[in-house]
Amino acid sequence: MQDKLKALRDQILAEISVASDVTALEQVEITCLGRKSQFSQLMKQLGELSAVERREVGQLANDLKQEIQDALKLRRSELLQVEFKALAETDRIDVTIPGLRPETGHLHLTTQAIQDIVDIFSRVGFTRVRHPEVEWDWFAFEALNMPPDHPARDEWETFFIDAPQHSKLGKMVLTPHTTSGSARELKKGQLPIRMMNISKTYRRQIDVSHVPMFHQFEGLLVDRDVSVTHLKGILDHFAREFFGAGRHTRLRPFHFRFTEPSFEVDISCGICSGSGRSEDGSKCRLCKEGWLELGGAGLLHPNVLTAGGIDPEEYSALAFGWGVERTMMMRSGIMVDDIRVLYKSDFRFLNQF
Ligand code: DAH
Repeated sequence: MQDKLKALRDQILAEISVASDVTALEQVEITCLGRKSQFSQLMKQLGELSAVERREVGQLANDLKQEIQDALKLRRSELLQVEFKALAETDRIDVTIPGLRPETGHLHLTTQAIQDIVDIFSRVGFTRVRHPEVEWDWFAFEALNMPPDHPARDEWETFFIDAPQHSKLGKMVLTPHTTSGSARELKKGQLPIRMMNISKTYRRQIDVSHVPMFHQFEGLLVDRDVSVTHLKGILDHFAREFFGAGRHTRLRPFHFRFTEPSFEVDISCGICSGSGRSEDGSKCRLCKEGWLELGGAGLLHPNVLTAGGIDPEEYSALAFGWGVERTMMMRSGIMVDDIRVLYKSDFRFLNQF
């Protein structure tokens, strides 16, 4: 029995030493020491021996088993080392290879401009307000001194919503200009007012220089003794902050139904500084006359204040408003031959900004 055990030990140790990988080694362990192994068979025969023999053989069997298990452990770690070494060769990671950068987006250039505009006006006390993108005719026109069927309305190329009319406020339209937000603010009756309304506006127009959805910003200041001087000061503040130091504005008499007096606001040209001439004396290639047109402004017409429930004898108001897209393109010098590219979601264009 002892000889059998020793022979078996030699055989198992030999098998362990030739196992070529960890899986093969595990197989050796199962077949040599498992329940159906020769070793287990021998152990079952222990009971047939005398007590003395049983102790001796049992001791030997335990020692052998321990020896085999040690050999298994050793071989296993040898094999693992070999495997890891091979893996390190084939599966090497070069930490110096540049990683994959996740794509990061950015705000649309119109949104960037809106944020700048909000910053600039909030520094002189204007608070941003928000109003609906659908509007009642009354706020868009009538409260702004444009009675039903007045020809001045034509300019706003309005989209009418196919919805029931409001008994007092009339038809529902897509907000054609941000001035309707001013009419709404007046109605709130909380004075004084210093607000900016920046939002989407809609007009039935589409060509290389117009999109049916664009953005306007509107400023409104209502208080006692508001004058054109205040208006000019605020507009110059905007010109300097948005377009750069040294830029200023010019007010040109104009006509809007909702302001009196009314102006068109021009900004001094950034190329010729308002002279209209290049250094060599020829006409400025950008503005030709020293000024670039921005938008409209004025002091609110008394009828508009009255419609808003405010006494024009006691209060006066300045207002200004124009398109975000146009203003931002004037600043950045982006020359696009088709303004519709702004809203085509073409990354080749948008990612430049
Ligand atoms: N709402 C006008 C438009 O859409 C622009 C405008 C002109 C706004 C004069 C004003 C203003 O506040 O005073 O074209």
